[in-house]
Amino acid sequence: MLDKSNLPRHIAVIMDGNGRWAKKQGAMRIFGHHHGIRSVRETVETCAELGIQYLTLYTFSTENWGRPKLEVEGIMQLLVKTIREEVPQLHKNNVRLKSIGEINDLPKKARRELLEAIDMTKENTGLTLTLALSYSGKWEIIQATKQIAEQVKAGVINVEDVNEQLFAKHLATEEAPDVDLLIRTGGDHRISNYLLWQIAYAELIFMDDVFWPEFRANHLYEAIYSYQNRERRFGKTSEQVVATQTA
Ligand code: IPE
Ligand code: IPE
Ligand code: MG
Repeated sequence: MLDKSNLPRHIAVIMDGNGRWAKKQGAMRIFGHHHGIRSVRETVETCAELGIQYLTLYTFSTENWGRPKLEVEGIMQLLVKTIREEVPQLHKNNVRLKSIGEINDLPKKARRELLEAIDMTKENTGLTLTLALSYSGKWEIIQATKQIAEQVKAGVINVEDVNEQLFAKHLATEEAPDVDLLIRTGGDHRISNYLLWQIAYAELIFMDDVFWPEFRANHLYEAIYSYQNRERRFGKTSEQVVATQTA
């Protein structure tokens, strides 16, 4: 059973393995992306039901632009279709949609659809669902650095004012807390330029036997359960952690 008093506040997911899942059935890679939508729906619904505050999904990386044109176009079309079909239900579930990444690089139609959905759900107070689109962690850190440098140059802030809190506010994730739990499906053990700053102390869970289109609510429960059974020490000793828990 999950401990409702110890849920991760922010879950991030690297939804990987769509292409390999499709290949396993002798289908085109895009077939895998299509089947990944059900996993997204189930993950979002389960997080909303559990009362998770932030869910950030790696949907399309900056590096993914380098994939074959046909696959990129297929993913962009799928994005438009999915936003159109899923957003009314998200809205009903009080989900607030956001995005991080260079969305100006998205095709006009996809950008428009996304911005409309973000606007429609902006007052919602439940789960904040952030889609990382045309996103890379290094890009985000450079963006933040540029903004801060401009403010120093304009005399709005001093160099001495730059600290972790200030830096984090300039990241695309803005007010979201750091990631508590990062899940990657598909079998690869890497970060792939995702939320580099925000995962500083995240618990990492690699689900090696699950391709993203196979990911279901039970996998999410399993990951949260595993998270709850880890000791997060943040540099301290186990004795110190236990002492503060029992204090
Ligand atoms: C993740 O699945 C989805 C995107 C990157 C858009 P992949 O498409 O990377 O699937 P694999 O890793 O090739 O199996
Ligand atoms: C990471 O998956 C990006 C997304 C899930 C959107 P990739 O499949 O692109 O990652 P690498 O290239 O194998 O590291
Ligand atoms: Mg992949």
